[in-house]
Amino acid sequence: MTTTHTPPDTDADAAPGGELPRILAERWTCRQFRPDPVPRTVIGQLLHMAQRTPSWCNAQPWHVHLTEGAATERLRTGLLDHVQSHPAEPDFPFPAQYTGVYRERRRECGYQLYASLGIRKEDQEGRLRQLLRNFELFDAPHAAIITTEADLGIYGAVDCGAYINTFLLAAHSLGLATAPQAALASYPDFLREHFGIPDHRRVVAGISFGYADLDAPVNSFRTSRAVLEDAVTWHTGSVGTEEAGG
Ligand SMILES: Cc1cc2nc3c(=O)[nH]c(=O)nc-3n(C[C@H](O)[C@H](O)[C@H](O)COP(=O)(O)O)c2cc1C
Repeated sequence: MTTTHTPPDTDADAAPGGELPRILAERWTCRQFRPDPVPRTVIGQLLHMAQRTPSWCNAQPWHVHLTEGAATERLRTGLLDHVQSHPAEPDFPFPAQYTGVYRERRRECGYQLYASLGIRKEDQEGRLRQLLRNFELFDAPHAAIITTEADLGIYGAVDCGAYINTFLLAAHSLGLATAPQAALASYPDFLREHFGIPDHRRVVAGISFGYADLDAPVNSFRTSRAVLEDAVTWHTGSVGTEEAGG
């Protein structure tokens, strides 16, 4: 068996194209939206596309609480009020710590975010202000709160993660901007009460969406990705020609 970081016989430039590579390359997290609402027909198309997400046993455990108009305003106001006086208690524990390369990547994207806003490292108040922008839904006209069924455990959450990514890509394909937000899963008890979500549902994350304000400095940066060699290890060798040892 040969273990290598180089893909065997593939040429990324020769890979079939279509729309997906462009959408994957272009999508980004928007943190300042214009107020214009998204037409219902467009949201309908988006939800139909997201519904095609695969899931374990085709359980499709996601359920979306989606807001528009006054309902978005009620969520924004209620959340912002709630976070000032309650500790975060997410249904799924947030990462215990980021170490090594994960710490570096987190720092890089944090640096990009704060630099775009002119917030310096020691400016704790500025950082808190930006954190709170999450609960103002970055002024988006719509929010989608994604829940899963408690009994389905971690894989139910995995299915919802896949749903979230389909939602983001589908939205981009429709000219919409999105912000996936774990921050919106910080106060699940508030959301359960606010939306009448039953106790057996767990909040995975939220997505603010609408149209991007492309003049906003916070929308001016794009994140990087690690090189493939850091993410993929190929195991190769033809049948009958396996190398011994190794
Ligand atoms: C599950 C998930 C949770 C996230 N939570 C937040 C969040 O709470 N607040 C935020 O500003 N960005 C959040 N993001 C956005 C990430 O920071 C962003 O996806 C990452 O830095 C890569 O940048 P890009 O989306 O622009 O490609 C989240 C993304 C994902 C996938």
